Amino acid sequence: MAEKLNLIEHLNSKEKKQGYVTQMFEIISPKYDFITRFLSFGMDGGWKIQMMDMLKLQGHERVLDLACGTGDITFAEAERLPRGFAVGLDITSGMIKIANEKREQMGVNNVRFDLADIMQMPYENAEFEHVTAGYALRNVPDIPGALQEIKRVLKPGGRFFSLDFGHPPFKLYDWAYINYLIVTGSLTGLALHGDADVYRYIPESLKRYPGQRGVVELMQQAGFVDCGYKQFMGGIMAINWGTKPK
Ligand SMILES: C[S@@+](CC[C@H](N)C(=O)[O-])C[C@H]1O[C@@H](n2cnc3c(N)ncnc32)[C@H](O)[C@@H]1O
Repeated sequence: MAEKLNLIEHLNSKEKKQGYVTQMFEIISPKYDFITRFLSFGMDGGWKIQMMDMLKLQGHERVLDLACGTGDITFAEAERLPRGFAVGLDITSGMIKIANEKREQMGVNNVRFDLADIMQMPYENAEFEHVTAGYALRNVPDIPGALQEIKRVLKPGGRFFSLDFGHPPFKLYDWAYINYLIVTGSLTGLALHGDADVYRYIPESLKRYPGQRGVVELMQQAGFVDCGYKQFMGGIMAINWGTKPK
């Protein structure tokens, strides 16, 4: 069994964070679908559909889904792309394995899953009409670096959408919900994996994440235009978007 890495030490270091994140998602991958529905009280699917609707796909595009996990968003995109193609990318081999098993079971032909790192993607410049990301930006070691890489693979005029946890504008609400996540995450981690840190990662990564308003600023700094966000549940969740200039 791999050595258990220290959560706080790794999250506080740009160099060490990815090692922690990848090891944790390898552990979680077999239970990922169940735990995502459970921790979001079944609401996760609805947020993903909202992001799909915002994409307004025409049906012929090439779309890249970052940090695809077991492929929820990628498959939803493929369904809306009868003449197009969806590519899911993830750094965790356990997630890609499950996504590929689902693809075979479902018999979907217009989707592919690549084991790769958002920070250094194996794609040509301007290869994709759109890029989506479900709970990705909070997990990468360097958000500005990831945004540059996303802009590189987007076609001019292409749009990027990112769904992730957010920070409610009311500080007390933000504080209360992060502490709620610490308690429920620790208990769930203990119950499912015998390790409280596994889901304590969510609130700890959130404390270090700039949230929906911070992501708008970072996207503007990275050169995206028409940036904005829509938030849910008072700001606990949000979808950010931006466009690569033509
Ligand atoms: C919370 S899961 C999200 C899965 C899926 N997008 C969803 O919405 O259900 C986060 C995913 O980010 C992936 N990930 C973390 N860092 C990454 C990186 N640098 N490059 C690619 N994937 C990464 C993890 O392997 C994990 O599958």
